[in-house]
Amino acid sequence: MDILKIENLSKIYGKGETAVKALDNVSFSIKKGEFVVIIGPSGSGKSTLLHMLGGVDRPTSGKVLIDNTDIYSLDETQLAIFRRRQIGLIYQFYNLIPILTVEENITLPLLLDGHKVDKEQFNQIVTVLGLEDRLQHLPNQLSGGQQQRVSIGRALISNPAIMLADEPTGNLDSKNSNEIIELLKMFNKTYNQTLIVITHDERIALQADRVIAIEDGRVAKDEVIRP
Ligand SMILES: Nc1ncnc2c1ncn2[C@@H]1O[C@H](COP(=O)(O)OP(=O)(O)O)[C@@H](O)[C@H]1O
Ligand SMILES: [Mg+2]
Repeated sequence: MDILKIENLSKIYGKGETAVKALDNVSFSIKKGEFVVIIGPSGSGKSTLLHMLGGVDRPTSGKVLIDNTDIYSLDETQLAIFRRRQIGLIYQFYNLIPILTVEENITLPLLLDGHKVDKEQFNQIVTVLGLEDRLQHLPNQLSGGQQQRVSIGRALISNPAIMLADEPTGNLDSKNSNEIIELLKMFNKTYNQTLIVITHDERIALQADRVIAIEDGRVAKDEVIRP
């Protein structure tokens, strides 16, 4: 089953002389449970692509279907709700809320939706992430690796259809990088969580089911490593 389908996706930033075509007619599908790595030189359009997949910014043209919902046919309010429930986003610099504790950061997407926290699921996630004894800490009281684990917890708490990570290990040393990738892979394999990761790290790309290379806003290569 295709959990994600993009059709003729293009994104142009700006207008006239200064316009930049960041994505140029990109199409592909991703199956539920796939672990896909996106590689490509700096400025090739990787982050733009991830933002389009994540409902963060509207494309200039083309479609994004997630679990059969055409997300850019939704209005802003509907899209914000869809994003919170169905898309787990992970960034290089964690993007945690500094005045909220670890527990509050992780459960925020549910609370914004007016949903109760499923204690059992919450406990399971924080245990796997090794954050049980850090729940009342603030982000600035944690290491980089711990902060990234919090952002993984926040991305997973609403059982999203897809998880998107933009250079999630870009700010970490190799030990913490390995731990973060092992955790993402664990959620991918154990819970069949679809995972799309942008990275410059070849060792991470080698662990994926499939590698998509982006160059000049186009798909330059799309290679299945593990069928
Ligand atoms: N908000 C923006 N406004 C204008 N140009 C942008 C914006 N975001 C990205 N770009 C341009 O689009 C191209 C692709 O950028 P990006 O998707 O960030 O590439 P990557 O993540 O592969 O480094 C680059 O030329 C970049 O300068
Ligand atoms: Mg980028």
